[in-house]
Parts: sequence; structure tokens; C-alpha cells
Amino acid sequence: MCLLVACSPESSSELIIDQNETELRNLLNLPEHMPLPAVPEFNPISAEKIKLGRFLFYDKSLSANQTQSCNSCHFQSQAFADGAQTPVGSTGHALVRNSQGLSNVAFNATFTWANNGFLELEDQLNVPIRADDPIELGVTDSHLAEVLTRFDVDPNYQKMFAEAFPDSESGVTINKIIFALASFVRTLNSGQSAYDNYLNGDKNALTEQQKLGLKLFNGEKFECFHCHTGINFTVSYRDRNTTNLTYPFFNNGLYNLDDTGSYPESDQGLYDLTSKDMDKGLFRPPSLRNIALTAPYMHDGSLPTLRSVIEHYARGGTLTAAGENMGDGRLNPNKSALLNGFDATDEEIDALIAFLESLTDYNFIYNKKLSDPFKE
Ligand code: HEC
Ligand code: HEC
Repeated sequence: MCLLVACSPESSSELIIDQNETELRNLLNLPEHMPLPAVPEFNPISAEKIKLGRFLFYDKSLSANQTQSCNSCHFQSQAFADGAQTPVGSTGHALVRNSQGLSNVAFNATFTWANNGFLELEDQLNVPIRADDPIELGVTDSHLAEVLTRFDVDPNYQKMFAEAFPDSESGVTINKIIFALASFVRTLNSGQSAYDNYLNGDKNALTEQQKLGLKLFNGEKFECFHCHTGINFTVSYRDRNTTNLTYPFFNNGLYNLDDTGSYPESDQGLYDLTSKDMDKGLFRPPSLRNIALTAPYMHDGSLPTLRSVIEHYARGGTLTAAGENMGDGRLNPNKSALLNGFDATDEEIDALIAFLESLTDYNFIYNKKLSDPFKE
């Protein structure tokens, strides 16, 4: 790749760039056909930071009461989701949102289910570590010094922190922890599914049924591709070369509690940050990479299977017939105009599910570089 205007194929500067890119792809587990993610200048990638981040991700010492790690809610075997409808934090607080899968998370334009202020992973990671309502890892102000000391006095961590941050004299800080974790999380890249093999020219990598599903996914009847598009299957997308960055959020008609389009009070998506009625029920379209591994679905884990997700879209919204969340999501005034419902045969639904299953990447869930380093 030629990044300098004047470089010719023989120039030595291009050679260096190529070597760097190969090394970077290797560090980030990124095959050739995937673009490079945008990495903030204040936290350049290094092998040492990734290594430290991997240890921290799997270490229960990173919770105040030493009962949870990031891995308590993000399992590699489930593409870093956890299979629960909604998880419970280290002190027993129930969270209202479903644990997200972390495949290709570095390519998201914003982070979490609905937050237009989290534009870098480093912003978002304060939440699981430090938040006090609900508590996740519980490293609140009163526990911070104690948790940092745990790492400061451990010889293995002393060495890893020194190698990851060679220019810093100070010991362990929360920023170093976050920078290392963000670097590791940027390596959680999945690009070796059957679908990727198909993209790379192996026409037999998908079954005929999956090919039909792909066509339906990208067609005007099902409309999926409008919001779940590109290499990461979401319009909430950014890579190193993205110039017109957008931060899309949509209401897809999951609930409708009243005539202003309310969602259950526990979680109204973007509205909880902006207090504008038009933002009620707006969420970020998630990536669909490894989607067959990350059930249950939606921000509140309310849809148990891929079939129930497609039935939701086929109906043009979910009907809640009784109970406190009663209402017809199809009639939600904020619902995206792209979601009008459609008639689908069982054969078509099966094909769409089969296509979504072709996004499962076994190299990702068995990649040793992403696994628990304490079990090596
Ligand atoms: C108690 C369970 C729990 C723990 C522990 C936890 N997470 Fe999460 N994680 C979640 C939930 C739930 C969400 C969705 C949050 C939201 O939308 O507000 C999430 C979202 C994320 C996201 C955003 C993904 C995206 O697509 O935008 C990242 C990145 C992440 N977690 C990484 C981590 C890391 C790293 C740790 C450890 C420091 C961690 N998580 C600890 C439950 C957890
Ligand atoms: C208007 C944009 C839009 C369109 C069109 C759309 N989606 Fe979505 N999709 C979203 C949003 C937003 C969410 C998250 C909603 C929530 O959690 O409340 C979502 C969630 C999902 C999920 C659950 C993801 C997870 O991690 O839990 C799946 C699966 C999915 N969509 C598949 C599809 C399929 C298949 C189609 C076509 C039939 C489709 N989507 C059409 C915006 C869209």
C-alpha cells in the first residue's frame, strides 16, 4: 500500500510501510481483505500493550472485590458475549442491557448499545471498570488506590506495565489500564468466516441456501443491508480511511408504551442521554459478525433466537400483548421508515438464518492469542 504521494513501488519508504502494515495486521488479527481500524494517536498499538491488556481482561483482580473480570460477561466461546439476557455485576447489581459481543469492535463509530458520546474505546472502558450505578467491576473512587496497588506490587505486572509504557516513570494508573485494555480489545477481529472465504473468491464457501440468504439480506424486501452493511455489517462504522464519519441510531420498533414512542423506563436508548422524544428507542445497529453465537438478541436480550429476530422484522415491530410493557412496536412513531414488515416464506427465513450462520468464525473463538493467558 502506498501512503505517500510520491512513493514508487521500489522506494524504501513504501517497504517500511508495508512491513509495518504486515506487522500491524498480525498484531490485530486482521486478514488482508479487512481494512485497518482507526487507532487514536494518543494510544498507538504495541505488542506489549496488547499483552498487558489481555492479562487485565482475564484478571479478577481488576474488580474491587476480586470476583469478576471483563471475561465474566464477555466469553471468547460466544464471540465475547455471555449468553445471558442481561448480566449481573460483581456486587450483584443487575444490569439492564445485554452484554455485547466484541467481534471487530474497533470498527464501530460509537460504543455501547446507544451512546453518541463514546467515540473511542478508551471513553467507554471507564464504565465497566469504574461505574457505581450499576456496579460492574466496582473500581469506584474509594477502591481505586487499593486496586492499583494490587498490580503495582505484583512483579509480573510491574514488568508488563514497564514494557507497555516504557516512557512513563509512574507506576500503575487507571489510564494505563484502560489504554492496555483498549489495545487488546482492538485485536478482537473476526475475518475468517465462511462468508469471508466467499468474499475472497471461494464460491463454494457458502451453500446454495446461504447464497439465497445473502441475496435476501441485501435485497429491498428484507431491507437488512440499509443498517447492517459493509465489512462489519453495520452503518455505525469507522476505519482508518473513513472521511465522512456518521453516528447512526435507529428505533426498530421493539416497544411502544404510549403515543410518544416510549420504551420501558429502564432503558430508552439515546433518549436517556438527550431527553428528546424523537430519540426514544434509538439504538446503534450492531455488527452481525458471529451473530449466531451471541444470543439472546437486542439491547435488552428480549429476543431469544435469530428466528425471533427475523419474525420481529417481518412483522415490522414487536407486539407486547400484555404486562407493563404492553404496546405495538410496529406503531412506534420513532420507528425507522425502512422497517415496514414483509411477507416471508419459511424457506426464505431459513435461508436468511443460514446466511447469518455463515458469519460464524471458528478461528476467532479458538484463536489462542485472544484466550485466557492464565490458562496457558
Ligand atoms: C457485568 C458484566 C460486564 C463486565 C464485567 C464487563 N462488561 Fe463490557 N459490556 C457489558 C454490557 C452489558 C455492555 C453493553 C453496555 C451498554 O450498552 O451500555 C458491554 C459493552 C462493552 C463494550 C462496547 C461494545 C460495543 O460494541 O460498543 C466493550 C468494548 C466492552 N464491553 C468491553 C469490556 C471490557 C474490556 C471489560 C473489562 C474492563 C468489560 N467489558 C466488562 C457487560 C460487561
Ligand atoms: C433501520 C435500521 C435497521 C434495519 C433495516 C435492520 N436492522 Fe437489525 N438492528 C438495528 C438496530 C438499531 C438494532 C438494535 C436494536 C435494539 O437493540 O433495540 C438491530 C439489531 C439486530 C439484531 C440483534 C443484534 C444483537 O447483537 O443482538 C439482529 C440479528 C439484526 N438486527 C438483524 C437484522 C436483519 C436480519 C435485518 C433484515 C431483516 C435487519 N436487522 C434490519 C437496525 C436495523
